[in-house]
Amino acid sequence: MEVKDVLFMSKGDGESSFFQNSYFTQKVVAMSKPALEKVVESLVSEDFSSYHVLNVADLGCSSNSTTYAIMETVIDSVKRKCKELNYQIPEFQFYLNDLPGNDFNTLFKGLPNFVEKYEGLPCFVVGCPGSFHGRLFPKNSMHLVHSSYGAHWLSKAPRLMDKEGLPLNKGKVYISKTSLPAVKEEYLAQFQEDFSLFLNSRSHEMTRDGRVILTIHGRLSEDPIYELTWEPLAEAIVDMVSLGLIPEEKLDSFNVPYYIPSQKEVKDIVDREGSFELELLETFPIKEGDKSVWNSHEKYIKNLRSFTESMVSHHFGVEIVDKLYGKFAQIMLRDLATHTEPREVISFVVVLRRL
Ligand SMILES: C[S@@+](CC[C@H](N)C(=O)[O-])C[C@H]1O[C@@H](n2cnc3c(N)ncnc32)[C@H](O)[C@@H]1O
Repeated sequence: MEVKDVLFMSKGDGESSFFQNSYFTQKVVAMSKPALEKVVESLVSEDFSSYHVLNVADLGCSSNSTTYAIMETVIDSVKRKCKELNYQIPEFQFYLNDLPGNDFNTLFKGLPNFVEKYEGLPCFVVGCPGSFHGRLFPKNSMHLVHSSYGAHWLSKAPRLMDKEGLPLNKGKVYISKTSLPAVKEEYLAQFQEDFSLFLNSRSHEMTRDGRVILTIHGRLSEDPIYELTWEPLAEAIVDMVSLGLIPEEKLDSFNVPYYIPSQKEVKDIVDREGSFELELLETFPIKEGDKSVWNSHEKYIKNLRSFTESMVSHHFGVEIVDKLYGKFAQIMLRDLATHTEPREVISFVVVLRRL
């Protein structure tokens, strides 16, 4: 499965859309706002007086409102710092990137409100479909690249088959307690390849000293096992297999194109790729089912469906998804009730300077 051909967050602005259910990334964007402000302020402080246009990209922007929050933070921070240093405010050019299947129509419905807020400011916004695992922009053109919860998506799921073509990760869709060491190795290798490609592509596009700021799903432990989301999803699919609604081979050939790295894995890739200096790697936790993020467990479960459904329905068929996610919801509610001490989702904020 080539992710660029099948992945999108649930479309539109209806009840089950990503637009209506992206509470988690909204919280993540709010938590990483101080880091973004600092990055913008330090860009402005260094040799900014000659900038006429500030080129900014948001990679993996999806169709929700977070990208507008990011553009606002960038503009407000630039204006504040320029005023302090007595610099001319530049023009702003924002590039909103996601895969071609993204719902850019819903995304751009938010544009009139944004434009109204910054009336009189020379600010231009364009959509930029394509994969961030390759070049998106001209050479030496980008000053700031932002991406929230995108860069842990892989370009494809690792091929988890042994030499005889037998599945290596039976009954699972990500790295789980029962996964063989080869499963962990293949996932890490795919992340190393994809994240290096992401950095290398940006390295051509960025101006010297330009910054990349990423928020990604991360982990604190050495062990890459992850029991949230993917484990209950696998259990729901296994249930569909046991009911004869999904052939077992379909489950055996499905692994999610997603990897949750450790800090060390991220640092090693940045060092090895060599185009960027790591300026910051901060960690923050959000508790699973946190009521300040999702006001009910149902909303939490809808949130999970809104970012996983496109690949599940592509692989298993659209006819099965309602039943499958019905089972998934039951499993999630059971798990949330069992874990009286909520588990945490860890995010990393990573700031890189182009060397
Ligand atoms: C969980 S959403 C995050 C959306 C938004 N940035 C936010 O924080 O709410 C991840 C987004 O990354 C996009 N994405 C994944 N792989 C990508 C790729 N190779 N190139 C561009 N976008 C990609 C997905 O399509 C999706 O819209």
